[in-house]
Amino acid sequence: MSIKKVMVIGAGQMGSGIAQVCAQAGFDVLLNDMNEVAIDKGLANIEKLLTRAVDKERITAEEKENTLNNLTKSTQLQDAKSCDLVIEAVIENMDVKTKVFQQLDEITPKHAILASNTSSLPITEIAAVTKRPDQVIGMHFMNPVPVMKLVEIIRGLQTSDETYQAIENMTNELRKTPVEVNDFPGFVSNRILMPMINEAIYTVYEGVATPEDVDTVMKLGMNHPMGPLTLADFIGLDTCLYIMEVLYEGFGDSKYRPCPLLRKYVKAGWLGKKSGRGFYEYN
Ligand code: CAA
Repeated sequence: MSIKKVMVIGAGQMGSGIAQVCAQAGFDVLLNDMNEVAIDKGLANIEKLLTRAVDKERITAEEKENTLNNLTKSTQLQDAKSCDLVIEAVIENMDVKTKVFQQLDEITPKHAILASNTSSLPITEIAAVTKRPDQVIGMHFMNPVPVMKLVEIIRGLQTSDETYQAIENMTNELRKTPVEVNDFPGFVSNRILMPMINEAIYTVYEGVATPEDVDTVMKLGMNHPMGPLTLADFIGLDTCLYIMEVLYEGFGDSKYRPCPLLRKYVKAGWLGKKSGRGFYEYN
């Protein structure tokens, strides 16, 4: 099937990044959020990034204009009635996501594919609340979306080959690299990344080294672009804890137990960059 019109639900950092790359690839994009202020903020950020790309001669002024023209604000889920694909990027909460998918199942045309950008919730369970589980799939983009090349494509238990193929083709059109993954806790990316971050936190918790030194070891020793604690602050410590809980519960294996220091920071409201403090302080 051919995808032309896309709705992205959630105008936060991930949602606006996804909307940007879809619009840049020529798709007709509705950026949807219940909160109009959030959409304006998302669109302003997209414009800022595009202006920077023009200044650096990565794209032309015409490409910037075309991208902005491909983006439309939407505050009503009903607007999904004309879409071929909906990509949901709302908060990581199963109740919220299943409510959105139930509504989308009623609103969208029969042929539409419903995708979730969830970083760890089971696609199979989200799909099960719809009458089209074969057309539900995971499209897990990485942060920052305009920069990172990967999209993990997660097949739920009932996702059809046709749906998978359409999403793989679209991911290639976005100039991203698709990787096919089956639906298990944390998929591939977070099953590997989060235990590494959790272990880095244990290293600090047990007094082996300071956050700065742990990060330096991984940056200079392993050529990671960011140390694991800087990355944890960047992702959000609440998100890291949430994903560790999903792994711990999903596999029932103690190797995924979240570090007590991670829990303590989240309880203190030290959520990383977004709250001004995590393993580091931000002004
Ligand atoms: N949005 C858009 N572009 C951004 C950006 C953002 N938030 N942050 C940085 N960039 C761009 C910059 O504009 C810059 O572009 P130019 O070359 O045009 O200047 C380019 O990225 C490089 O940025 P910087 O020079 O400022 O800094 P850097 O070299 O350290 O790169 C980084 C920044 C790309 C974020 C890099 O540090 C990196 O790759 N870090 C690791 C990111 C990562 O691991 N992401 C995955 C997180 S996990 C996830 O998303 C999944 C999940 O479920 C939790």
